[in-house]
Amino acid sequence: MELAGKTALITGASRGIGRAIALEFARQGVQQLLILARSQDALIELAQEISTIGGNAIPIVCDLRDSEQVNIMVAQAWRDHGPIDILVNCAGIAHQQLFLESHPRKLQEEIGVNLIGLLTITRSMARRMVKQKQGLIVNVSSLMGKLAAPTMATYSATKFAILGLTQALRGELQPYNVRVVALLPSLTDTDMVREQKHFRWVIPQSAEVVAKALVRGIKRGKSEIMVGWQSQMATLLQRLLPSIAEKLVHFAAPEIMPEAI
Ligand SMILES: NC(=O)c1ccc[n+]([C@@H]2O[C@H](COP(=O)([O-])OP(=O)(O)OC[C@H]3O[C@@H](n4cnc5c(N)ncnc54)[C@H](OP(=O)(O)O)[C@@H]3O)[C@@H](O)[C@H]2O)c1
Repeated sequence: MELAGKTALITGASRGIGRAIALEFARQGVQQLLILARSQDALIELAQEISTIGGNAIPIVCDLRDSEQVNIMVAQAWRDHGPIDILVNCAGIAHQQLFLESHPRKLQEEIGVNLIGLLTITRSMARRMVKQKQGLIVNVSSLMGKLAAPTMATYSATKFAILGLTQALRGELQPYNVRVVALLPSLTDTDMVREQKHFRWVIPQSAEVVAKALVRGIKRGKSEIMVGWQSQMATLLQRLLPSIAEKLVHFAAPEIMPEAI
């Protein structure tokens, strides 16, 4: 798929991987970028940066946990800037904690953004893409959507679920010429992981590398876009020797001592 001339809506665009994808899409000639997050100032700053490289970005302030707000936002975005060709579901949060100590509020927040928010916007956007018989949906999962890791139970659960959704939707939407792909970054140097304890041996990559891998994957027509050799090795090991892969992930996981159990 050619990106030049298209209109794309990117969630989680205020920081990290979403921001890097917005900039890379602008460099690729995406004509209109609808950049979505909660932080208005960061979105305005990004829109200015995009205009300096010749792109056109429209900030959209929206909290993906609020389904009503999401549905209204999609209707308005489509009316004012549509048709929209590409949706990149990048917004996400991760709370690193032992599952038995996880606070129900944090657990619901993770599921609310990573899963319910993603499902709500995807449903609303996909209905319109189906009508126009054309579209691309990119769901940002994670290597942790293939290899679940201690201290990241709820996060891994949401990222596994995103891969299931992607696979099912690919079949449902293919007759309408709407492509559904998954992006699976491994550890990436963003705000999300700065406070986290890292896994042993994993070398962080930059958000720019992830954005470039996404563009390459889209152009090559891939349905699952793994980023970097570490992810390739890990998923290969998991396919060939699943019990060894699981032991390695357990060993690599950071030690977090239980406090209240
Ligand atoms: N970093 C990694 O190592 C890594 C690895 C694999 C996969 N990923 C995935 O990549 C995606 C981006 O992660 P990142 O590392 O770039 O994280 P990040 O730097 O923390 O950025 C998260 C983005 O999500 C937005 N967001 C959070 N809650 C939201 C809400 N309720 N409504 C709307 N937007 C919301 C944030 O914007 P506001 O706060 O302004 O709303 C921000 O733009 C996530 O899906 C993550 O799971 C990350």
